[in-house]
Amino acid sequence: MSQQFQHDVLVIGSGAAGLSLALTLPSHLRIAVLSKGDLANGSTFWAQGGVAAVLDDTDTVQSHVEDTLNAGGGLCHEDAVRFTVEHSRESIQWLIDQGVPFTRDEHASDDDRGFEFHLTREGGHSHRRIIHAADATGAAIFTTLLAQARQRPNIELLEQRVAVDLITERRLGLDGDRCLGAYVLDRSTGEVDTFGARFTVLATGGAAKVYLYTSNPDGACGDGIAMAWRAGCRVANLEFNQFHPTCLYHPQAKSFLITEALRGEGGLLKLPNGERFMPRFDPRAELAPRDIVARAIDHEMKRLGVDCVYLDISHKPAEFVKSHFPTVYERCLTFGIDITQQAIPVVPAAHYTCGGVMVDDQGHTDVPGLYAIGETSFTGLHGANRMASNSLLECFVYGRSASADIVAKLAAVDMPLALPCWDASQVTDSDEDVIIAHNWDELRRFMWDYVGIVRTNKRLQRAEHRVRLLLDEIDEFYSNYKVSRDLIELRNLAQVAELMIRSAMQRKESRGLHYTLDYPDMLAEARDTILQPPTYAD
Ligand code: FAD
Ligand code: SIN
Repeated sequence: MSQQFQHDVLVIGSGAAGLSLALTLPSHLRIAVLSKGDLANGSTFWAQGGVAAVLDDTDTVQSHVEDTLNAGGGLCHEDAVRFTVEHSRESIQWLIDQGVPFTRDEHASDDDRGFEFHLTREGGHSHRRIIHAADATGAAIFTTLLAQARQRPNIELLEQRVAVDLITERRLGLDGDRCLGAYVLDRSTGEVDTFGARFTVLATGGAAKVYLYTSNPDGACGDGIAMAWRAGCRVANLEFNQFHPTCLYHPQAKSFLITEALRGEGGLLKLPNGERFMPRFDPRAELAPRDIVARAIDHEMKRLGVDCVYLDISHKPAEFVKSHFPTVYERCLTFGIDITQQAIPVVPAAHYTCGGVMVDDQGHTDVPGLYAIGETSFTGLHGANRMASNSLLECFVYGRSASADIVAKLAAVDMPLALPCWDASQVTDSDEDVIIAHNWDELRRFMWDYVGIVRTNKRLQRAEHRVRLLLDEIDEFYSNYKVSRDLIELRNLAQVAELMIRSAMQRKESRGLHYTLDYPDMLAEARDTILQPPTYAD
């Protein structure tokens, strides 16, 4: 039997964004935080390098703003960048207050920086401004915030719950547009439950799983973007998919990232013959913004017909390497690579979704009562290319500002009345799971081949044709069979892929992460690609 639940705030997603929002809401509110797998299922747990923020006396808000604007290829919204950076210091202080064990600077007392924690560097940053917990920053943040949430009796942490779709007044045929909650598959019972809420928050992460090779965990399927789109929200700039330049290249290593901080601390990119190549592409060499480094690697791999390039930090003292990068050191060692002695084989892989659900500074979407925060959202911060370590920062700043907005609106919003149950009367169990598996593979392969680091009109047209066929097949499947996690994710991935392809086809220039051989130049005017769902326009 399916169940009905009611909460003041329904938070879909238990990563950096969802947890920081939940923890900053008042303790008299009943809050549900959902994760579709275990609670550590999202990208947050895997974050390595750290969080960018203006923290010591040698850095300024203006410098962080300018670096972000430069990396973003002229497409960042300066007001969003300024808003984020201006709130960076207090967000980090909040994390420190929660107990996050950031790495301390052993030389802090010898200088006059005015800050006790170690700051590292990453691509695009003109200062050392990345606060981190060695090279496992995400795990340190997630574990601390989760421990805090577990101590709060008003926060229910619900695992293995997959949100299927949002419930809106429009969907129910009522007057108005408001979001009233969500239908959620409980994987332990197989039933779709109804979660009513005064406020609903999408904190579902990105969509890099749309590509065959990715640094992201399995759940990064763009569920929030697809659900928001179906509910009537605009989405923006989905053509800007960031490829991280350096993921470990090894047949047994499924999606392991080699942090950019390794280049920040002196790591060099080399060809198989040991020659450095980044200085030929950009004066900032290994610390150029990510789009430039990933494209340079792609270019060199194709030019030489090689399967990977190499990232070398073996010229640094072994103790330095082991203490700064213990996770990378240990992981590479399991594959027989001693990074204190050898260069690491690396390739680019899909890493971050710069576009998403359009929101303002408080995380409001186009649908009243519905917020989007973290990687699932589009705030305007990242422009055409996200600068390293600005994404976790965005999760904290917008998680906290959305929370403050909810508090300000509490008195004006009642609990929704009883909502209709999910209707499963017309569907049966699927005996054709092979179709879902095949469609997953097909989608991710043609997105990699046709909508990757280098694009052309022809490739995009092919991708568009194929995604439409897939969407038709998936629609039919969805109408006839009971929902499962795989089917829900495939449906969302295909929807987001279609939006990405459509956005890429609309951009008749090359800018930041969107590079096409048919329009290699950048236009004088920088414009967002904004897509409007049919329900919103009606
Ligand atoms: P996530 O942490 O991805 O969490 C998503 C949550 O939503 C999960 O709990 C998931 O279960 C849940 N969810 C999704 N769909 C559903 C659904 N349908 N129903 C219910 N629940 C759902 N950024 C930095 O700034 N610095 C770094 O050093 C850094 N390193 C990175 C390293 C790696 C390997 C990766 C993959 C990313 C890295 N990033 C880094 C990016 C950053 O980690 C992410 O952008 C950020 O963690 C996203 O947080 P989030 O809260 O938006 O989503
Ligand atoms: C990394 O550590 O290289 C990832 C940083 C990021 O994606 O911001």
